Amino acid sequence: MHNNKERSMSENELFVAAREAMAKAHAPYSKFPVGAAIRAEDGKIYTGANIENLSFPEGWCAETTAISHMVMAGQRKIMEVAVIAEKLALCPPCGGCRQRLAEFSGASTRIYLCDETGIKKSLALADLLPHSFETEILG
Ligand code: THU
Repeated sequence: MHNNKERSMSENELFVAAREAMAKAHAPYSKFPVGAAIRAEDGKIYTGANIENLSFPEGWCAETTAISHMVMAGQRKIMEVAVIAEKLALCPPCGGCRQRLAEFSGASTRIYLCDETGIKKSLALADLLPHSFETEILG
């Protein structure tokens, strides 16, 4: 069982990873760098930044890059995720990323919203994406 100190150290590690990922953003058009860090079931951290494109709709979000890294490492379960944006404290994941996060999340998955100093808000995915698209018809 983790005590509070161990938990806050591991959350801080996730925050630092998200901030480092944000520094790698390719956001020359919006000039709105975002970083995300996922802790997967294996305990490891998978990070991502937003990657934009001159053809604007072809860019994608930091959370999507982080999910890609997690999946390609063979992981399928998100335990917690931290998101940070340079110009917006407590930047919430966009609608599309909420659905993508939901694909790999469970009831206890936590989403941490950060400012430049650390995690400032913790939400359950179900609070971020209530009434999400779910159906047994598709599997
Ligand atoms: N962005 C993210 O990376 N994650 C979010 O959840 C919100 C938006 C990016 C997309 C785009 O590159 C920039 O922020 C401005 O919308």
